[in-house]
Amino acid sequence: MRKKLLLGNWKMNKTPSEAKAFAEGCGEMVGYAISHGIDVGVAPTYVCLQTVVEHAPKGLIISAQNVSQYDHGAYTGEISIPMLKEIGVSWVILGHSERRTYDGETSEKCNAKIKALLDNGMTPVYCCGESLETFEKGETKKWVAEQIRVGLEGLTPEQAGKVVIAYEPIWAIGTGKNATKEIAEDTIGFIRRTLREMFGFVADDIRILYGGSVKPNNIAEYMEEPDIDGALVGGASLALDSYQGLIAGLVK
Ligand code: PGA
Repeated sequence: MRKKLLLGNWKMNKTPSEAKAFAEGCGEMVGYAISHGIDVGVAPTYVCLQTVVEHAPKGLIISAQNVSQYDHGAYTGEISIPMLKEIGVSWVILGHSERRTYDGETSEKCNAKIKALLDNGMTPVYCCGESLETFEKGETKKWVAEQIRVGLEGLTPEQAGKVVIAYEPIWAIGTGKNATKEIAEDTIGFIRRTLREMFGFVADDIRILYGGSVKPNNIAEYMEEPDIDGALVGGASLALDSYQGLIAGLVK
């Protein structure tokens, strides 16, 4: 049985004091989610991670939004796995479309980072998803299969079982035009079949999230679909009342 998961992707939002206020204010709702068997987390910016670790309620998953594949060295502007580990962060989002678009993040690079994270007992959240052009050409599955195959290349089934996947169609991110639950399920079911071809039955244990304009008023729809295990949420994860609404939608 796969546990439902809600992960808030804060992107480049919140100063440390704003992040602290969220961490201090979310205790009750996080407890409520956990008592209903749901995993919940947030992914603050690097500069807010330590603050959130220090002020968050027990059980809140705290994720970085990127990490270097290297442990240390001459990589100006990068943050390493040992640095995250030392402050108690063990989850990392990788391959988000914004990083693929603006920072040259490739599936090959993500593959190296995923392997480094797994070697360190950490949890990668690997994002995939197609552009509007690819969607309109009917090539979503071909595109996403390539991202999955390259990103997870060389993993053992045991390692693959520890990865979380997020399917986020680029045309749905931050646009208010969320993919219908049928479209999301169609692609996510396909991703699961691809994972099954690559890794066997462990694919049935891998959590696959939908992301792209998920809001408190639409999150429950996705949960009706058999292959969708939760959501990666940007805008609607920033405010406490909205985050609470997302949890309420998942508990339904
Ligand atoms: P959004 O972002 O919920 O604001 O559409 C989702 C994401 O980019 O993870």
